[in-house]
Amino acid sequence: MGSTVESLCQNDPNETALSQRQLDAFWMPFTSNRDFKQQPRVIVGAKGHFYKSADGRQVYDLFSGLWSSGIGHGHPKIVEAIAKQASELDYCMSFQLGNDKAFLLADRLAGLAPEGMDHVFFTNSGSEAVDTALKIALAYHQANGDFSRVGLVGRERGYHGANFGGISVGGIMPNRQLYQGNLLPRVYHIPTTYDREHQAFTDGQPQWGSHLVEELEKICRVNGSHNIAAVIVEPAAGSTGILPPPIGYLERLREICTKHGILLIFDEVITGLGRVGDSFAAQRMQVIPDIITTAKSLTNSMVPMGAAIVNKKIYQTIVDDSRSDNRNVEFFHGYTYSGHPIAAAAGLATLDIFEQEGTFETARELETLFSELLHSFDDHPKVIDVRNFGLMGAIELETRDNQLGARGLETHKRCFWEQNVVLRNSSDILQFSPFLNAKPEDLERSFSAIKKVLDTIE
Ligand SMILES: Cc1ncc(COP(=O)(O)O)c(C=O)c1O
Repeated sequence: MGSTVESLCQNDPNETALSQRQLDAFWMPFTSNRDFKQQPRVIVGAKGHFYKSADGRQVYDLFSGLWSSGIGHGHPKIVEAIAKQASELDYCMSFQLGNDKAFLLADRLAGLAPEGMDHVFFTNSGSEAVDTALKIALAYHQANGDFSRVGLVGRERGYHGANFGGISVGGIMPNRQLYQGNLLPRVYHIPTTYDREHQAFTDGQPQWGSHLVEELEKICRVNGSHNIAAVIVEPAAGSTGILPPPIGYLERLREICTKHGILLIFDEVITGLGRVGDSFAAQRMQVIPDIITTAKSLTNSMVPMGAAIVNKKIYQTIVDDSRSDNRNVEFFHGYTYSGHPIAAAAGLATLDIFEQEGTFETARELETLFSELLHSFDDHPKVIDVRNFGLMGAIELETRDNQLGARGLETHKRCFWEQNVVLRNSSDILQFSPFLNAKPEDLERSFSAIKKVLDTIE
């Protein structure tokens, strides 16, 4: 994909200006709406590795969508697949009928998953994939006659989407606090794997911290392991600010779950399909869960789609061995757009490109440069930590004057307006998710632009 776009910036900026009323009409997600609407950062086009802003600038996307457009924006092969599919079969329901592309994509996706994880339930987003995975885990134990297994375990600082299931097992307080009275019952949390004192400026997985997983044993002792259905974790936490698992942590987590008959769910909505230089973090880490959730990269984000991938044992227990009559539904769950043909066609094209372009290998090769660029900030006076895993990276800034997030947001905005670079800030943590096929010179240029901002920011 070309990294320069000649035609991208030739529009008249006035043509794309939005009125205040139009700006106000869109209640933006996970955004400080009032701040944004004072000086909106509006994108009107994208090609390859660049956005086109409404004021006519070419802006480098150092977050590849929202961790999600790894092979670049507007990939022509995906565009073509979508157009072809829309003209051949725009939609058919997946309840009692099925479109060919959904079956083909399920099979292809299962082929990328760890061996034995052969069955795919499609959703429209990561949040839905998570809620689907939690329901599947509960349904599995019920189908086994293990009726007491209704407890779920998440992790402090985990992000599993914005739906009620996801925020219940999630461990990010601002996402949960308004809904405390209505979260799922019988949910427990193991501690975060992160401790700056022991882990600051680690490149990749920290040495310290695998013992923290033993808290799961404590939860099992206190609540009875026979009452726990599943544990869900991001193999490497993403949205909370890149927290790679301590060495040995995931292996031990797998051991404990197996010992107690608890299902292990890896939420790979970010880490799945290339971001950690392999099909899934499960393969990269060689720790195989029972269920994997994925979304974002599945269609390179051109059409919304998510999935929960499960092993044979789970599918057989719920579906093949269903005690109900053959004509009955085995699992009462699904969405109007589960396996949508246009999303599935986009997914098939995306997986083709991954294979043809060797995307996962390219991503793995970029890791060294990415890590070097990130860790060149280790000594920066405003930086208190730098973390990375695969092509996920974070630079954590010192909070300014007790104003949590102010310096982070200002950095995001100045990078956009002054340096033509998009990065994401979550509070004072700057987050980076480069394209899986990023050009080294673009990464070098972007990080030196970020340095200019950090050198001059208050
Ligand atoms: C690990 C993880 N799970 C779930 C989600 C939710 O996905 P979505 O925003 O598509 O609902 C995200 C989104 O970033 C995520 O990072």
